[in-house]
Amino acid sequence: MRILKMILVGFLCISVLIHSGCALDFLEAEQPNPENSEPSSEEITQQEGPTAEEIAQAEKEAELRKERIDAIEAMLADPFMVLVNRDHKLSSDFEPSDRVSFRGGYPLNKTCAEQLGKLVDAGKEAGYHYVLYSGYRTYSSQHNKYYNKIAYYEGKGYSNAEAVRLTDLYYAPPGASEHQTGLAADVCIPSIVNKYGELHDSYAETDEFKWFSTHAHEYGFILRYRLGDEQITGYAYEPWHFRYVGVAAATEIYQLDITYEEYIEGLQKELADLKAKDN
Ligand code: DAL
Ligand code: ZN
Repeated sequence: MRILKMILVGFLCISVLIHSGCALDFLEAEQPNPENSEPSSEEITQQEGPTAEEIAQAEKEAELRKERIDAIEAMLADPFMVLVNRDHKLSSDFEPSDRVSFRGGYPLNKTCAEQLGKLVDAGKEAGYHYVLYSGYRTYSSQHNKYYNKIAYYEGKGYSNAEAVRLTDLYYAPPGASEHQTGLAADVCIPSIVNKYGELHDSYAETDEFKWFSTHAHEYGFILRYRLGDEQITGYAYEPWHFRYVGVAAATEIYQLDITYEEYIEGLQKELADLKAKDN
């Protein structure tokens, strides 16, 4: 009986120790479990978080991101960089604030006129003679030009749909013309205009055009309706139509060799990506 009691007490002790989870080491040696084992000193270092160097680097990157965000937002808000096309129209009462007559001729925004003057003068020194054939246009003059042109084609026997298609190649509907900003200049040479009676894309073959289109960005102008980019800009090739956007943007666009639509879209995308990184 005494022996039976001892066996029973022994069994109860072992069972309590097993359930309290603190025994077993005298029953059998515990096998190391990688999930439960203590981390090594090397692992502790890895789990400690970023080093001071990494934190400084992340702060520097955040600072550069902020600078770039501010720069892009300033560019997109710059009145000289306004994007105008059929999808981005100006209101009927929009007028450029600072208007002057370009050397006694067509009106332009004052800064645009000053920069165009410098560009044309540099061209003169190179032996070329440029003339401004169109500058600022009011909303109502765009309206008249556009609908008169449709009527002109209809008068020639084209259907209304065909007349609109032909007009849309070179004429912006009211509010969709950059000329309303005072920042667009149609520049050509008299010999071409006299020969064809209008601005003509054979101007693109002249030395004058080649000089102008490779120096325009130095004064803040871009060739706005490029050959081969008609699907993006929405207009036929216009080697005479230059748009003032400022020297920095014009130089970047010239070097990137892209349309203004692509440039603005690129800035908007970059801005969205930078802001997403900060969230
Ligand atoms: N010729 C350009 C597209 C305009 O009408 O503004
Ligand atoms: Zn034009």
